[in-house]
Amino acid sequence: MKTRLISVDPLFPQSEIIQTAAVSLLRGELVAFPTETVYGLGANALDAAALRSIFAAKERPTNDPIIAHISKASQLKDLAMQVPPAAKLLCDAFWPGPLTLILKRAPQVPAIIAEGRDTIAVRMPANPIARALLHATGVPIGAPSANTFTRPSATTAEHVYQDLAGRIPLILDGGPSTIGVESTVLDLSGTQKTILRPGGITLETLRAVCPDVVEAPSYLGRADSSDSPGQMLKHYSPKAEILLFRGESIKELRAGMYRVAQGRIARGERVGALVSNEDALGLPSGVEKRLLGAASDLSAAAQTLFAGMRALDSRGVDCIVVRDPGRVGLGAALWDRLLRAAEGSVIDV
Ligand code: TXA
Ligand code: MG
Repeated sequence: MKTRLISVDPLFPQSEIIQTAAVSLLRGELVAFPTETVYGLGANALDAAALRSIFAAKERPTNDPIIAHISKASQLKDLAMQVPPAAKLLCDAFWPGPLTLILKRAPQVPAIIAEGRDTIAVRMPANPIARALLHATGVPIGAPSANTFTRPSATTAEHVYQDLAGRIPLILDGGPSTIGVESTVLDLSGTQKTILRPGGITLETLRAVCPDVVEAPSYLGRADSSDSPGQMLKHYSPKAEILLFRGESIKELRAGMYRVAQGRIARGERVGALVSNEDALGLPSGVEKRLLGAASDLSAAAQTLFAGMRALDSRGVDCIVVRDPGRVGLGAALWDRLLRAAEGSVIDV
């Protein structure tokens, strides 16, 4: 299959391009498109066969449920059996944006989207291209992140092309994703409002609207939790080994990274680093580095994390040193992605 890569104006998407993509989706084909978090691999969420083809394209195991994307709040009632008051509050506060809500699924929605669960994940993205596409199709679009299974998520059309060329007909290129990590997944289908995946909307921000939101412990390291499907530990992984440093003192963390980097170089390895501007200063020479921005700027780190992993992979490094960003704000999402990229192994200093 030939994959077309079409550039779209990120603020004022050209209607003829959006129409082409919408027709393709309504024919049952897959279209990759930008969102503010990461690129999505879209299929008509009401078409079970189209949804099934997502799994093949991503080489994704079929036990992983998919988020339905919508452009109007009124679409929610077609997807969810009921919309609890907390969902209404959260939608008003955070949609469109990087928040996914898990609700009880309406019976007319194909069960394959949730892999047979009685729930559905719904999100209203803010990206103008995603919104235009949703508007033009008139149907909800089921879309996982547009990467091959276990690879770092795609934050540019180029990343999507690297992973999925020859497997899908169309990629819309709207430039880099502005947030860079996926949406926060919040489960409202049970008695406790539980974050299943930390993401673009932070715990602190959610609690300002819903004080009783809690975090699921699963992403903190339990690899096989069935409450949080698709959150298995190996995920978001570059080919290089991730050496993830954790500790209380920034000074010691830096020293630890420098020491290990030096040791690996001495062993003849090619060493990469994903580091803040400040941390980069003391790295041994010869380390291939990608900068995450100022240490205090977690948004900048989120924007560059996945792209940095992919860039270092393409430089052929054997390992990548990176440190715990702290768990405050977006730090929780960054830590979660790093921990999975490191397949759960951490170097304590
Ligand atoms: O930011 C995002 O959420 C991106 C963009 C494209 O919207 N999408 C994304 O999709 O990250 P994906 O498939 O890579 O991750 C979706 C997460 C998975 O961890 C999945 O298990 C969870 O949402 N999920 C989806 N449906 C669910 C359900 N019914 N119950 C529990 N978890 C669900
Ligand atoms: Mg994903």
